[in-house]
Amino acid sequence: MVNSSSVAAHVAPALRGLATAAGASVAAGAATVAYAHFYELNNFKLRTESLPVLPAGTPDFRILHISDMHMIPGQRAKTRFLHSLASLEPDLVINTGDNLSHMGALPALLEALGPLFDFPGVYVPGSNCYYAPVFKNPARYLFKESTADEGIEPERAELPTQQMHDAFDARGWTGLINRADTLTINGLRLEFSGVDDPHLGLDDHPGFVPTAFDAEPAPSVRLGVCHAPYIRTLDRFVADGAQAIFAGHTHGGQVCLPGGHALTSNCDLDPARAKGVSLQSDVPVQISAGLGTSRFAPVRLFCPPEAILVTLTAKG
Ligand SMILES: [Fe+2]
Repeated sequence: MVNSSSVAAHVAPALRGLATAAGASVAAGAATVAYAHFYELNNFKLRTESLPVLPAGTPDFRILHISDMHMIPGQRAKTRFLHSLASLEPDLVINTGDNLSHMGALPALLEALGPLFDFPGVYVPGSNCYYAPVFKNPARYLFKESTADEGIEPERAELPTQQMHDAFDARGWTGLINRADTLTINGLRLEFSGVDDPHLGLDDHPGFVPTAFDAEPAPSVRLGVCHAPYIRTLDRFVADGAQAIFAGHTHGGQVCLPGGHALTSNCDLDPARAKGVSLQSDVPVQISAGLGTSRFAPVRLFCPPEAILVTLTAKG
């Protein structure tokens, strides 16, 4: 016959052990969330890349790529980091969208970008340039299969998109919203093809402006610019003749495994390509991990926020 007091003597320590283990797990989880929110979210990094895409003999051309700022009023660390980027004195700024994460953040965004408006710039919008974020289950980001043409949830409020784009235009930046354009900077003719956000199914590719006849043609390069790097978007840029492509949207996976391994790209791109330079049919695709997050998912893990200084160099 089992003695109830002896059972209790064995069960009680086991329960205490389980409770201790559960408490340790909760504490470890809380510490990870605290690290992801209070430290990594503001651990801004500058990544550097070099893309050999210019005609032989062309001097280097330096592009500052920023994306996914998801600005909220009062983000001083992000503002200071953006201000510091002006000291790089880039030849061009490319902004691949998702600029706002709050209805009242436009003044803060323009203040943060202020010093970068001193440089030529081009921009395309992301969904978080059009619609304010809403709370979603954070696990949805990691485990929901993301598809293009998702459409807009009807409850999302409209952001001051036109006001923001008017401010960018007034500071001399060029919108590439389903349009092609050219800029000549430091003797390099930059041919751009940009699209509205593929994540919302708003992309309508304009191709590139045909190169005009010149008695003394300038060295040139063709760049595709988009927010969300869906495969169809990258393929179309390649088919149109892009020599390099710039995109954001993925947040680099945002909550990654150790080593920065992404679990998702939030689109149909392989998560292994969610950050950095990869190839689409031999054309380099530069994808930013972004500078912010939705204000309803303010965590990053093994995936610090970043800006990227991309140097275009001569081939060979
Ligand atoms: Fe984003």
